[in-house]
Parts: sequence; C-alpha cells; structure tokens
Amino acid sequence: MTTRLIAVLIAGIFAGASASALAQSNKIWISVGDAAYAQLQKAAPQAVARESRATLAGQEKIHLVEVDERQMLALSAAVHRELHRCGGFMFHASEAAGIAALTPSKTRTTLAGLAAARPSYAIDQQSVVNPMLAQMQASNIGQTIIDMSSYANRYYTTNNGVNASNWLKQRWTTMAAGRSDIAVTQYTHSAYPQKSVILTITGTDNPNEVVVLGGHLDSINQAGTSETTKAPGADDDASGIATLTETMRVLLASDYRPERTIELMAYAAEEVGLRGSLSIARDFKKHGVRVVGALQLDMTNYQGSDKDIWLMKDFTSAPQNTFVTQLIDTYVGATWGMDACGYACSDHASWFRAGVPASMPFESRMKERNMSIHTADDTLELSRNNADHAVKFAKLGAAYAIEMAKGELGGPPIAATHADQSGGRWKLLAALAGLLVLAGALLRRR
Ligand code: BES
Ligand code: ZN
Repeated sequence: MTTRLIAVLIAGIFAGASASALAQSNKIWISVGDAAYAQLQKAAPQAVARESRATLAGQEKIHLVEVDERQMLALSAAVHRELHRCGGFMFHASEAAGIAALTPSKTRTTLAGLAAARPSYAIDQQSVVNPMLAQMQASNIGQTIIDMSSYANRYYTTNNGVNASNWLKQRWTTMAAGRSDIAVTQYTHSAYPQKSVILTITGTDNPNEVVVLGGHLDSINQAGTSETTKAPGADDDASGIATLTETMRVLLASDYRPERTIELMAYAAEEVGLRGSLSIARDFKKHGVRVVGALQLDMTNYQGSDKDIWLMKDFTSAPQNTFVTQLIDTYVGATWGMDACGYACSDHASWFRAGVPASMPFESRMKERNMSIHTADDTLELSRNNADHAVKFAKLGAAYAIEMAKGELGGPPIAATHADQSGGRWKLLAALAGLLVLAGALLRRR
C-alpha cells in the first residue's frame, strides 16, 4: 500500500515536472496557411517562414515556421477573433519533419498507397449491422460526455488531462472484460504526459489489416491552460469519444468478431496541432501497419444545420467519403451534405498525410458550427442535456467498422463453450430417453 502511494507520488512529481517544463520556453515547428500566417506575423513578427509551398489543391500556400510554444495560444485566439475560424496549424517534431510534410513526393505517396490494402467498399453486412442499430442509446453517450466533462480540463500537459486518459483506459478495459481477442493500451508520447488510448480487436482472418475509428480525448480553453482552467470540451470532443464508446459497447454486446483488426483510438494532444495522432500515424507507417481506412469523429452532438451529417471534403478520401454517404443512406437514414474545414482541422488529416483513406463526418455545416468550443461553455447543456444527435454517428460508426472489417456475430466455437453445449445436449437426450422408458414401464403395468 505504502509503496503504491510512493509510486503514485513519484509519478505525480514527474508528470508535474514535465508539464511545467513544457509550459516554459519551448521552440516548436508548425505549418500554417496564408491567413493564419499573416495573424502569426502580427502576433510574433520575428516568426519568419523557413519554407513556403503551394498546396496540392492549389488553395492556400503553406508556411513552415519555428515558434515559441507559448505563442500558440495567442495565435489560436487571433485566428478565432480575426478570421472567425479555428487555428489550423500542424505541429512537426523537427524542421526536417516539417519540410518532409510540405514536400509532395511521388515515392512517399506510392509507398503509402502500397501500405494500405484496397477495401472493396461493398455493402453486404446487413444481417450483422441491422440488429445493432436499435441498440444505440443516447443516454449512454450523454453519460460518457458528463463523465469526461467532469474533469476541469483535459489539456495535454495537466494532471487533469493525464487522469482523463487513465479514466478512459479503465472504462474501455471494463467494457472489453472477458474477451481475449481485445487489448486496451495507452500510447505514450515522449514529449508530454497525456497518453492516447487504443482499443484493439484482433481480426479473425486478416489481423494485419487495420480499420481505425478515432476521436480526441484532450480539450482546450483558448483563454488559458492552468490545471484548474475550465475546458469541459463536451462537444469538442467528449462527444466523439462517447459516440465511439457506445458504438463499441453495442459491437461487444452482440459478440461481433471482425475479420480485419479494428482499432478504436482516443488521441492525446489534438488541440495543440494534432500531435497525438501524427505520432501514431507516423509510427504505424514506419512499422508497415496496413491501415485500410480511418474515420474521425470530432464533434457529433451539436445539431447546427438543416442536414444531420456533414462530410468534410478536404484532407479526406473522396472514394471513402462516397462509401460513407452510402452507409448513411443504407443504415442510418439520416440526411447528409458535403462541406470543408478549409485546413487540417482534426486527426483525420494525420492519417491523410500518412497516405491512409480518411473521412470526417461532422455535426453541422462549418459556417453554422458550435461557437462555444474551446471555452468554459462547451457543455452538454448546449445540446439540451441529451445526445440524440450523436446517436446517428454511433450508428454510422458501427456500419463503418463492420462493412470495413467484415465478420460475424457470435464468437468462434471456443473449446469450453462447445463442450458445455454438447454436454447439455446429451443431458437433454438422456432425460428424454429416461422419460420414454418410464412411460413404457407405466403403460406395460396397466
Ligand atoms: N474539433 C475541432 C475542429 C473543428 C472545429 C472542426 C470547428 C470543425 C468546426 C478541433 O478539435 C480543433 O479545434 N482543431 C484545431 C486545429 C488543430 C490543428 C490544432 C482548430 O480548429 O483550431
Ligand atoms: Zn478543438
């Protein structure tokens, strides 16, 4: 008991120490678009771009700049104030990594293409998906949102942010209890204390092909980042994590066994430049993990527009987006439209950059988005204390996971269960035979 207490205290001191080290001066590399770069130059005139490149889409130029980490909040606030949109910058581990990200390379894209097995996008799992749809419950999603927003904040350097990750790991572990084919792990990021959480269901037939469903577990308040600053992040992005948790609950309640591996990811440090997902996507690519597709759920519970689900066209895969719209029509019965973020607005962009087909179904049109995110007012109250909107995304999550990974309901015949069942059958037959003998004897007596 005492040793555990000491271990916890030491861990706390380390987490605190690394958090305060990060809060001090720390130079980082980011890339920004034209408009955000102009804001950055106003806020920090000494920040001059090392590289500027035209984008593939031919829209904004992208600029690679070295900045002080402490300037990031000011930049993000200025972009909100002046451009009426969110930050839109991408973090790079080094100058070289930044330049590599800016350089469109034929070899890189070809390698990335080879890394991913091409999914068929055939929709043929109705018998598996349909029974699950009615089981999705808004109340479960609402409760997870409440649980996650009860942390003062989930910022990537605070103890609260660390604890929220640990809580989620525990929650998912409990959910997967009794399944030897499921593992829940935390992915450690060397530069900051908050860990990403990953739940893996190993595929029965193609375990080396991975389907990723993700959201981000961190939150931010653009006005400050202290241990006690309120950043409930109910919509951004407790809603996405809660939605994925409900999808997974129903998959497990149905004893669904995927052919391909499914990974549920709650990324750390999204709000500070997609840092958690960038590390994971790069790591997977480096180790040759074949990710066949990624679905990002970031903000699912604020119904701001006339249609239900909005698919972001930028930093995503057009063929996979078409497939997702077909899944909505086939299984969700919700209305949908196409929109764009205009910048690398969430973790789907990390997978996109790693050559993985990615999609980002979103809760509203961009121009009608929830304006309370990144403040203390991002609470469930803003969605009238219910998670009805998010349920559509939980259904879509199940449809995506199952149609991408294929598979079946009911576990494979496991030795013990099989023996039990046949044992039961013999007992029933023996009892029936006994009854027949008894009846025969009784009839003969007459
Ligand atoms: N959930 C937001 C992205 C978002 C906000 C999408 C509003 C659509 C509408 C995400 O968590 C976020 O805040 N991203 C950052 C960018 C990131 C690279 C730091 C942002 O938008 O400022
Ligand atoms: Zn955000």
